[in-house]
This record gives sequence, C-alpha cells and structure tokens, in this order.
Amino acid sequence: MDVIFNRASVRRYRKEPVPQRVLMNILEAGRRAPSAMNAQPWHFIVVTDEKKKEALSRRRWTGFLKDAAFIIIGCGEKDKKWSTVDVTIALQNMVLAAEAQGVGSCWIGDFDESEVKKLFGIPDNLKVIALVSFGYPAEKPKPRPKKPLEQIVHYNKF
Ligand SMILES: Cc1cc2nc3c(=O)[nH]c(=O)nc-3n(C[C@H](O)[C@H](O)[C@H](O)COP(=O)(O)O)c2cc1C
Repeated sequence: MDVIFNRASVRRYRKEPVPQRVLMNILEAGRRAPSAMNAQPWHFIVVTDEKKKEALSRRRWTGFLKDAAFIIIGCGEKDKKWSTVDVTIALQNMVLAAEAQGVGSCWIGDFDESEVKKLFGIPDNLKVIALVSFGYPAEKPKPRPKKPLEQIVHYNKF
C-alpha cells in the first residue's frame, strides 16, 4: 500500500544510472502482468541511447525525457482486441516495481506514433501504447490530489 500511496509522477531525475538488477526487476514485473487469454501481446523497448532519449524529449510535455535513466516504450499487437489494456497493465506493474525500488517514473502519452515507430524500427503489426520514463528522483513530489471514493465508486448501481 505504501508504494501505491506514496507514488507520484517524477519528472526530474538524478544522473545516477539504474543498476541492471533493478532494471531486470522492473521488466520482470511487466512480464508477469495479467493479459486477456494470457496472450501477452506486448513488446517493450528499453531506451538508454542518449540521442534517442533526446529525440523523444522534443515535444511539449516531454522535455525531461532526456534526463531519464531509461524510457520504456510499450507496444501492443494490433490484432489482439485487449492489447491496449494488457500493455497498460504491464507498464503500470513496471511503475510500481520501480517505485518499490526507489526509482521514479512518469507515464508519457505525448508522442507521435509514426515518428516513434520509425525511430525504433517497430514493425507494422504493433501499435505504440505509451512510454514511461524511469530514473532516480531528483525531486520528491507529493502525491497529487485524487477524487474521493464517494465521487467515483458506486455500489450495485450507478
Ligand atoms: C496515459 C498517460 C499519459 C501521460 N502523459 C504524460 C506526458 O506526456 N507528459 C507528462 O509530463 N506527464 C504525463 N502523464 C502523467 C500525468 O500527468 C500524471 O500521472 C497525473 O498528473 C497524475 O499525477 P501522478 O502521476 O503524480 O499521480 C501521463 C499519464 C498517463 C496515465
């Protein structure tokens, strides 16, 4: 519960690299996520290359991506109905695994899919679902305000 309650998107990162063991735990958390019919219709690209991180940083809401230790691009198989949900679950597993190990992260929806597909050579049968940046935090943002349960939860009827 601490991991979930204390997490907040981190957009400033220390220069310190994230050890391979920690990265592998994050990827492993994604690999173990549930998926419809256990299809696991996902591919993940780990971006550490400085030039490629820089290229992803050039958009309105992504300026901080160049400072991330790495970025994970989540891709889903187009012909699987639930791949968007499946990839999203896997990426959020990674976010929580990162947080549990002291690594901050931020979801990124601000990308041009065709640009990303070209830059990383992603095949046509895959769609880019989202990016998530990771790195040791250089800021400790407070958890953001969330709607109270009374506003969003309904019992037995809307
Ligand atoms: C699908 C999705 C896309 C997002 N895209 C961006 C983005 O492009 N740039 C950014 O700085 N934050 C992005 N965020 C982070 C949200 O702004 C953040 O999660 C939200 O403000 C709530 O803050 P919290 O994560 O600290 O709870 C995105 C989050 C999600 C879930």
